[in-house]
Amino acid sequence: MFRRATRIVSILSLAAVLFGCAAAAHALDNGLARTPPMGWNSWNKFACAGLNEKVVRETADTMVANGMKDAGYVYVNLDDCWQTSRDAAGNIVADATRFPSGIKALADYIHSKGLKMGLYTDVGTMTCAKRPGSIGHEYQDAMQYAAWGVDYLKEDWCNTLPGQNAESSYTLMRNALAEATAKTGRPILFSLCEWGSNKPWLWAGPIGNMWRSTDDIQDCWDCKRSWGGNGVVQIIDQLDPIYSYAGPGHWNDPDMLEVGNGGMTTEEYRAHFSLWALLAAPLLAGNDISKMSADTKSILLNKEVIAIDQDPMGIQGHRVKKEGDLEVWSKQLADGGRAVILLNRSAAPAKISASWDDIGYPATLKADVRDLWAAKDLGKLAGSYSAEVPSHGVVMLRVKP
Ligand code: GLA
Repeated sequence: MFRRATRIVSILSLAAVLFGCAAAAHALDNGLARTPPMGWNSWNKFACAGLNEKVVRETADTMVANGMKDAGYVYVNLDDCWQTSRDAAGNIVADATRFPSGIKALADYIHSKGLKMGLYTDVGTMTCAKRPGSIGHEYQDAMQYAAWGVDYLKEDWCNTLPGQNAESSYTLMRNALAEATAKTGRPILFSLCEWGSNKPWLWAGPIGNMWRSTDDIQDCWDCKRSWGGNGVVQIIDQLDPIYSYAGPGHWNDPDMLEVGNGGMTTEEYRAHFSLWALLAAPLLAGNDISKMSADTKSILLNKEVIAIDQDPMGIQGHRVKKEGDLEVWSKQLADGGRAVILLNRSAAPAKISASWDDIGYPATLKADVRDLWAAKDLGKLAGSYSAEVPSHGVVMLRVKP
């Protein structure tokens, strides 16, 4: 379909990603992700084998019916395994068994619900699940995605060529998406997924709307896989030092949510969600939302916690105090307030105290304190606030002078 127009750029693209000679970067100006993107992604629950058209349609229906859409979850993202091959002209081909109606029809359906659709690709020769990657087809694929009605593209980092340059590879796809947008009028959010391997926070601001900063999340509180997979506490420790690189339009991405997938307790999932909100992380539910428990729903739909994530100032919070396993995290908000998390990483309940000094206020300041999970105003307090925090749990506060 887009064969002739893309043949020459394909050859140039290959040279660019190998030798790091992509066109000079200009600031990413696609107007998207002014607050961290919210939605759902298929991978954490459905992985490769479980992804199909029925699951995606049911997910879109549920997001409208259960209030997630109204709470801000708008992207419905297909991860790896939606694609099978390329045709004789090099066009990417969707899996016709799993997606009998095709990607365009699915995008139309998602759009008819007032939602947006995301797709997944890879900078290398193959995706992580060995489906075709985008190398040498960036402009052709970007045009195809735009023609299908895709609103969001995640690009992974598997099966790269030896020495392939990350910044150039992602710049190439950014430019391809910009051209597709110019031709079709469809803006496409760009999500880099190179797992923090090349410190994307140092260079990806002008390239992507978000960049994975860590290896894949695992559905566990405290774990580290030999291949790099991380539990919740491993991820927050890696996100803390890079907080200053995030902002409107360009976010650190600690990976998709595991809330509701069964590997953690409700207390741990509440902490996971709270921390992602304080980190101004993209909030992409990663569970089967058509079969959510009441606890899972109450976590994903807590509008006061979501409001912390979506605060228009777009500052990523960070750790301000650590005493062994007892921590205080704080995020500056647009109204002059702070979101504060008292985090207990230890195996037993413990009292944690946040002083106003810890969160950047004079001790004499009187501020309204609200407990966001208890949905309770705690009064106008000066100096500090202390609370008993459950093991592997949080107390999350909104403090407003
Ligand atoms: C990588 C990514 C994951 C997911 C899988 C799909 O591991 O980091 O988020 O997209 O690939 O194969």
